[in-house]
Amino acid sequence: MAQYLCSDTRKVTTLRLIEMKKNGEKISMLTAYDYTTAKILDGAGLDAILVGDSASNVMVGYTTTVPMTLDKMIIYAASVVRGVKRALVVVDMPFGTYQVDEVTAVTNAIKIMQETGADALKLEGGEEILPMVKKIIAAGIPIMGHLGLTPQSINAFGTYAVRAKDEAEAAKLVRDAHLLEEAGCFAIVLEKIPATLAERVASELKIPIIGIGAGNKVDGQVLVYTDMLGLSKDFAPRFLRRYADLHTVITDAVGQYITDVKQGDFPNEKEQY
Ligand code: KIV
Repeated sequence: MAQYLCSDTRKVTTLRLIEMKKNGEKISMLTAYDYTTAKILDGAGLDAILVGDSASNVMVGYTTTVPMTLDKMIIYAASVVRGVKRALVVVDMPFGTYQVDEVTAVTNAIKIMQETGADALKLEGGEEILPMVKKIIAAGIPIMGHLGLTPQSINAFGTYAVRAKDEAEAAKLVRDAHLLEEAGCFAIVLEKIPATLAERVASELKIPIIGIGAGNKVDGQVLVYTDMLGLSKDFAPRFLRRYADLHTVITDAVGQYITDVKQGDFPNEKEQY
């Protein structure tokens, strides 16, 4: 049984997140991609865990999320679900698995839900993907939207710069957020957009808005766990706060292990049979 840091050990549901927004209670969310990490994050009392397709970058080493496949996401997601008792587990549908048509989208969504045991899925985009969002929700699968910087479209954007700074893009984002809410999404991630725009969307919508690089006048925050724990040294956007320096902790520990092995100090008498 995990040791929970929070006293409320009830399984978090999509309805609970909506209630949290109503009660003015902020939502905490981080990514995870494996059983061991998910178990630690869940035990610490996170409200939600995202099995992000950022796995493509931080687990596999690709420069974008475009190469991520359905089968790989299913392996990551099933591993996370096995480590989680309390947090809501949301899984990213990877690029190419929901954009083509409604039948492909709902077939792939059902496959992820059946083979992982996740609670919900996340899809990137607004009006363009609305028919697919509606079809998946009609199949009984909760959907989290994702607007602003949507990394699966990096080849169209050409840059990871802040999105929706101009009026036309901001107006489209607000319209898309309303459309996603009307379609039945239970929450929306807003990534790397001006804080004032995110605040406006959060105040106009009843469903929770989870920000990443979108200021703190939203209903919750999500970060990539390898970034916030300082495992990765080479990614330092302005919105990132590092809560630990695990890169240094691991490097020092491994350095000590190497020394001990080379000097014949490990294992000692108590560490052998
Ligand atoms: O894939 C991911 O980690 C994400 C977050 C950055 C929101 O979509």
